[in-house]
Amino acid sequence: KRIAVLVSGGGTNLQALIDAQGRGEIINGSIAAVISSSPDAYALERAEKAGIPGYVIDWRDYPSNRAMTAALVDKLRQLDIQLVVLAGFMTILTEEMVRAFPNAILNIHPALIPSFAGPGCYGLHVHEKALAYGVKLSGATVHFVSPECDGGPIVLQKAVEVLPDDTPEVLQRRIMEQCEWKLLPQAVSLFCQDRLSVEGRTVRILDK
Ligand code: GRF
Repeated sequence: KRIAVLVSGGGTNLQALIDAQGRGEIINGSIAAVISSSPDAYALERAEKAGIPGYVIDWRDYPSNRAMTAALVDKLRQLDIQLVVLAGFMTILTEEMVRAFPNAILNIHPALIPSFAGPGCYGLHVHEKALAYGVKLSGATVHFVSPECDGGPIVLQKAVEVLPDDTPEVLQRRIMEQCEWKLLPQAVSLFCQDRLSVEGRTVRILDK
């Protein structure tokens, strides 16, 4: 399957996908494009180093999220993309995107959904909220994107302990290293092998 990874920033999750692909772990899939919402995203350099075509759809060039989503859908269709991966993509897409790619958009969220998720829960805020709440476990979730923010069917989750001296930055790093960078390539590979079956809210992982 042809995969597009949508990014806005540093791109460590993109890097995890590139590395997994290099190890032959993305079975039946290949990263065909990286699309950034900002021309300055370091993720674009990572794509270039890996020989993957990079494109910019700059949110500042569009009057609305709706117009930007339409441009994005056009580009993804032109590129014949079958799986869209949101890896730190900071623009909220409109329903057009979900309609164009039903159960074919994966997002990674740095908490155990439904905790610390939804509008306003992104980046370091997520970890600040988890620490302020005093949870003893947090982690990451890969889910299919539905019209509801962070509300689509859950594909994979992984937890880590929250330690007494954690700062938001320290917790963020632990969750990236131990959860996000492992879960995202796993979920992408399962999708590319047609091993994810969605029934309502439940995602079943099919045996090979
Ligand atoms: C990650 O924490 C991811 O969970 C969230 O955005 C961040 C992106 O980081 N959706 P990076 O650009 O992949 O380094």
